[in-house]
Amino acid sequence: MSQARPFTVITGASRGIGAEYARALAAQGYDLLLVARDHTRLDMLREELQHGHQGEIWTESLDLSQPQAASTLYEMAHSHREEVSLLINNAGFGMYGDFADMPLANIQSMLQLHMNTIVESTRLFLPAMLARQHGAIITVASVAGFFSIPYMTEYAATKAFLIAFSKGLAREIQNQCVTIQVCCPGFTDTDFHQTAGHKPKHVLFAQSSQKVVQTSLRALQSKRTLVTIGWQGRLATWTSKMVPQTILMALAGKFVKPPSSIPKHQPSH
Ligand SMILES: NC(=O)c1ccc[n+]([C@@H]2O[C@H](COP(=O)([O-])OP(=O)(O)OC[C@H]3O[C@@H](n4cnc5c(N)ncnc54)[C@H](OP(=O)(O)O)[C@@H]3O)[C@@H](O)[C@H]2O)c1
Repeated sequence: MSQARPFTVITGASRGIGAEYARALAAQGYDLLLVARDHTRLDMLREELQHGHQGEIWTESLDLSQPQAASTLYEMAHSHREEVSLLINNAGFGMYGDFADMPLANIQSMLQLHMNTIVESTRLFLPAMLARQHGAIITVASVAGFFSIPYMTEYAATKAFLIAFSKGLAREIQNQCVTIQVCCPGFTDTDFHQTAGHKPKHVLFAQSSQKVVQTSLRALQSKRTLVTIGWQGRLATWTSKMVPQTILMALAGKFVKPPSSIPKHQPSH
């Protein structure tokens, strides 16, 4: 019986958008492997989801910014179930501030988590899906990947990479019954901004993680590759195409710039 249920692996499932994917997919009867570093939160979520859920829910603590993380994730998934129907590459974090002052270790963690681990995980999980002609991979990027954003420079660049990667891969495997989706939320009401140490100056029209997940899972049925959320997503898409990049960067930089960010290396008078 258990083997008949679809199985999904969700990274960054301890809170925010990842936890919401877990809630939605548990309600749809999926077996779940929930992965993040905070085991206590994962176990609390499993307890919450187990009420009324017939399927299996496993939790694993893993730091996905470590070099071998994708292989470990793949082995963990296969220690529970042979077939993975859906992989959700969601784990991520933000950093705000002057690039020149960012701790190098934090930048390395972000590049590893947002790019290497996701590309490697996709490479590991995809072939079996293609062989079965069934499955899907959702990667959570961001509208921040639509253009360069000063003071979130490396974050926006990694998300732009994920969008380009997912679109190219989707095209490569079109007609092969496996869906590649890159989900691009706008400002979403989660712990993300607090964890990144950012106090946004103006937050208008924040989206809920429920709305992000509903839109993403609905779009999976229509096999759409690039998914944005609601009218905010449509506005971001339109703006990124119609407004010159210099203007966009100036506006985004003003919005994101931390108060402590003062010009450095100024010539002395
Ligand atoms: N919130 C927004 O406004 C927004 C907008 C666009 C895109 N996004 C993207 O949405 C995704 C989810 O973010 P969120 O808003 O849900 O933020 P969140 O509430 O801070 O959740 C982030 C999740 O990622 C996990 N994570 C972070 N670093 C990890 C690591 N090294 N190893 C394993 N797991 C790690 C965290 O778990 P642990 O701390 O337990 O490891 C947590 O479960 C991210 O990729 C983010 O870039 C967010």
